[in-house]
Amino acid sequence: MCGIVGYVGNRPCRDLLIAGLEKLEYRGYDSAGISLLQDGRIDSVRAVGNLANLRAAVGLEGDGDGAVAVAAPPATIGLAHTRWATHGGVTEENAHPHGDCTDRIQIVLNGIVENHAELRRQLAAEGHGFTSETDAEIVAHLIERHEKGDLTDAVRSAFAELRGHYAFAAMHSDHPGTLVAARQECPLIVGLGDGETFIASAIPAFLAQTRRVLLVDNGEIVTVRASGADLTDGNGATVSRESEEVTWDEDAAEKAGFPTFMLKEIHEQPGAVAETITDRLAATDHVDLSGLELSDELAAGIRRIVIVACGTSYHAGLVGRYAIEQWGRVPVEIDIASEYRYRDPVVGPDDLVIGITQSGETADTLAAMRLARQRGATVMALTNIMGSQATRDADVILFTRAGLEIGVAATKTFTAQVAAMYLLGLWLAQVRGTLGREDIAALITELKGIPSKIATAIESVDERVRAIARSHHEGRFFLYLGRNIGLPVCLEGALKMKEISYIPSDAYAAGEMKHGPIALLDESTPVVCVATESPVLDKVLSNVAEARARGADVIAVATEGSERVAEVADQTLYVPPTDWILQPILAILPLQLLAYHVARLQGLNVDQPRNLAKTVTVE
Ligand code: F6R
Repeated sequence: MCGIVGYVGNRPCRDLLIAGLEKLEYRGYDSAGISLLQDGRIDSVRAVGNLANLRAAVGLEGDGDGAVAVAAPPATIGLAHTRWATHGGVTEENAHPHGDCTDRIQIVLNGIVENHAELRRQLAAEGHGFTSETDAEIVAHLIERHEKGDLTDAVRSAFAELRGHYAFAAMHSDHPGTLVAARQECPLIVGLGDGETFIASAIPAFLAQTRRVLLVDNGEIVTVRASGADLTDGNGATVSRESEEVTWDEDAAEKAGFPTFMLKEIHEQPGAVAETITDRLAATDHVDLSGLELSDELAAGIRRIVIVACGTSYHAGLVGRYAIEQWGRVPVEIDIASEYRYRDPVVGPDDLVIGITQSGETADTLAAMRLARQRGATVMALTNIMGSQATRDADVILFTRAGLEIGVAATKTFTAQVAAMYLLGLWLAQVRGTLGREDIAALITELKGIPSKIATAIESVDERVRAIARSHHEGRFFLYLGRNIGLPVCLEGALKMKEISYIPSDAYAAGEMKHGPIALLDESTPVVCVATESPVLDKVLSNVAEARARGADVIAVATEGSERVAEVADQTLYVPPTDWILQPILAILPLQLLAYHVARLQGLNVDQPRNLAKTVTVE
């Protein structure tokens, strides 16, 4: 995820800004940049790679060879940014800050401007020239378009034209004591010091300097000066808000106040999914995967899709299979990559092979993708990491935009992968004409509502999940049961339970119970069952009754408003209603939380479980 740091005050700020970026490094980035304003002039430096490269570029490190002279200290106002590429590759040109045509304005932006293409067209027609492929750059040009002497007004007018979820900060060479920033769905926080003020996307960026913070809310514009900050709304009306004192230490601040990265990442899922889908669903009745480089003709002619992946990514593929088959009517095969690559698969030019790998570096998935490519298949990588090996080995790339995941157990990258599979399924339906325009529009509306439903679901189930975890954290075994679209959710829930709590757990297709696994059940067995609304709910409920009859303690995940489940389960965890194919992206949330709380009650390190690494590059 990108990081923003800005400063205005009386101290030389170059090193303060770079120190602030260092505190945001844990969020992940692939390039960085800084702009400093001094003597009516803004100098900017950007560098691909880690902050050492930026430090070298500003002459802070190494022998200074090749260092570009930015306004030497003591500039006392500036902006800095770490970028996690989403629109446009990892290049110096695409790194922030971005400027307007006159080089008087610089901006840094986090998030995504959904209507960037349309705005870029308008601005280009007005004569604006662009130097990057980013959506962010258009914001500098929009401010330029509206600038008539008051930077706050110009930012407000630019802000009003943007759609999407983003936070940005701007600086203007004619206004040497002012930064102006705005927020829509992405975090933005002001740090109030003594005669100096910070603006940042996360508190760690300035925590070493000040603990007094002013939170910026959605739709607000903040004008930052050395003496403090003024909040206004979209109409220019003053917003009054008290500042607060942060009590976290630096470690807690990196985790945004959460006790672990895993919990923080569970809570980041609304943002991860929103980043993955929003601009691709900008139209009401049309999925835009224009960056995909898979022609409509090729997509229309695909005979079969084969998904290869490992672990959690494999489970995302299993969910994807339902969406692609149901909506796009393309047959889908799915295999564990480490099996596929050694079984001499029948695959060829009419197949689309999708390797799902959040890291883009998993050895078995890469090998399976290469094998398929050698045999003539078109290979797509679905990955979270720009520049990863998978992106180099694939013909086509579809990115999730979950940001860096630090916890070893995949959480937000899973829901982002599932969201991307939904996009792909809908896009295939659109290209192949297997769903009508109205059906596509209805599903798009549902998908757009998913990020806020994720947030609601996490908040609403957490207390109950904790209570269930308290009853079962000393259990010897968890069984997960599901059918159809609920089965991959169970497989993923059981994987989370195994890997972070070390409690043996198994996931079964509920219809298979009577063929053996039912023998496992006794009074001490918690049975977790995914019983969300679907065409097979009745069948699932009969399986729940079977388990209950053996004395098992049934914990069901159900759709709000579906009363029948509570009648047969011991405990019911409700998630918001949505289209039944989309239910997995919500149903997994209580299961992530259950594994998390069970492991925490045992005092385990959930961020770094034993024997596991985040990226599995060995075969
Ligand atoms: C489980 C987990 C792993 C990964 C698997 C594949 O929480 O994280 O099962 O999903 O190692 O990794 P990627 O997606 O990077 O290929």
